[in-house]
Amino acid sequence: MNVAILKERRAGETRVAASPDMVKKLVAMSVAVAVEKGAGVAAGVPDTAFAEAGARIASDVADALDAADLVLKVRRPMSAGEGEVDELSMIPDGATLVGLLNPLVETGQWDAYAPKGLTVLAMELVPRISRAQSMDALSSQANLAGYKAVLDACIYYKRAMPLMMTAAGTLAPARVLILGAGVAGLQAIATARRLGAVVSAFDVRPAVKEQVESLGATFVEVEGASADAETKAGYAREMDEDYKRRQSVAIHEALKKADICITTAQIPGKPSPRLITAQMVMDMKPGSVIVDLAAEGGGNCEMTQPDKVVSVEGRTLVGFTNMASRIATDASQLYARNLLNLVQPFIDKESGALALDFEDAVIEGCCAMRDGRLVHPTLTAQQGG
Ligand code: NAI
Repeated sequence: MNVAILKERRAGETRVAASPDMVKKLVAMSVAVAVEKGAGVAAGVPDTAFAEAGARIASDVADALDAADLVLKVRRPMSAGEGEVDELSMIPDGATLVGLLNPLVETGQWDAYAPKGLTVLAMELVPRISRAQSMDALSSQANLAGYKAVLDACIYYKRAMPLMMTAAGTLAPARVLILGAGVAGLQAIATARRLGAVVSAFDVRPAVKEQVESLGATFVEVEGASADAETKAGYAREMDEDYKRRQSVAIHEALKKADICITTAQIPGKPSPRLITAQMVMDMKPGSVIVDLAAEGGGNCEMTQPDKVVSVEGRTLVGFTNMASRIATDASQLYARNLLNLVQPFIDKESGALALDFEDAVIEGCCAMRDGRLVHPTLTAQQGG
């Protein structure tokens, strides 16, 4: 089998869908890996590291994709009209494509893959079952994003995080509020606590209260929260208007006391819930900082501007849409491991051939297309049947 790793070309994307460690493991299974020249540079991985691991360094994208059976990507391949290079046109017919494809939102991509007969695995659709935890790229990337969001907040916050008792006086610890205590939020709590901040957190899923408290943060309570807020897959549901009003009051009060707010609230396939209005921002203390990790889905804060850091009367709003790219070396390493864990069980160790088992719960769960046919029930329902 030939595996192709391309340089990511989408704006702001610095990760790469491979690590030298992953290349080494694939090569040991008789797989030929071609890495496009410079593919890892933005993630801090030079071509020499991939070459030493056993990859062939391809001179350009066409060379990398030549006879590729499996194309591993971070983001959706570029297609005609999207940039200078039409990667999609160079992917061999019948190949398997795996990546973070944003399947619930970028619904137009299937039409482009169909004529090529591609088999497509979307990493976002890997089911959240225990066996698939090591393949869960949403978790690996969100974890790092939560960590980095706190560090970014520190950079823009012009005060110290921990309590400091010095000869020149005492500095109070920063008060950090985390909205959305999923994977990113829990890591943000842990990171802010390690830096010495006083942390509180809120989530619509009451089940997370215990996790929040076990990390040493207090849980912001909203009356009327119910177990219904959580889907079978562990994600949040959209809440009714009455609940949203009560939630809004609780968040407003918590923000008045906070110095830093990290927002991470998302609902898969839907715009990010709006939790912070402009008025709430202005009611925060001057000097406070909001890092909006939901910026890509439109933001949890009304004033967030995607990929911008804006200052409004002394309040700073940080809106990076791709936080994992800001910690690209580790994000790539974990993502590559997720990819490897997903495909490895289906590679024949002697011949290196890939034979996906479409009845395997993980493959079935994340398979968007099979031989050019849209097969995932959520995606076919979106297309109207
Ligand atoms: P996510 O990225 O979709 O959302 C982040 C957080 O925002 C979630 O905790 C969600 O409840 C919260 N949220 C949504 N709307 C909100 C609102 N209006 N106000 C406040 N908070 C709101 O979720 P993520 O982080 O990917 O994980 C969701 C759950 O799945 C977590 O409980 C996590 O522990 C679980 N999980 C399970 C795995 C497994 O069993 N293999 C693997 C990874 C996560």
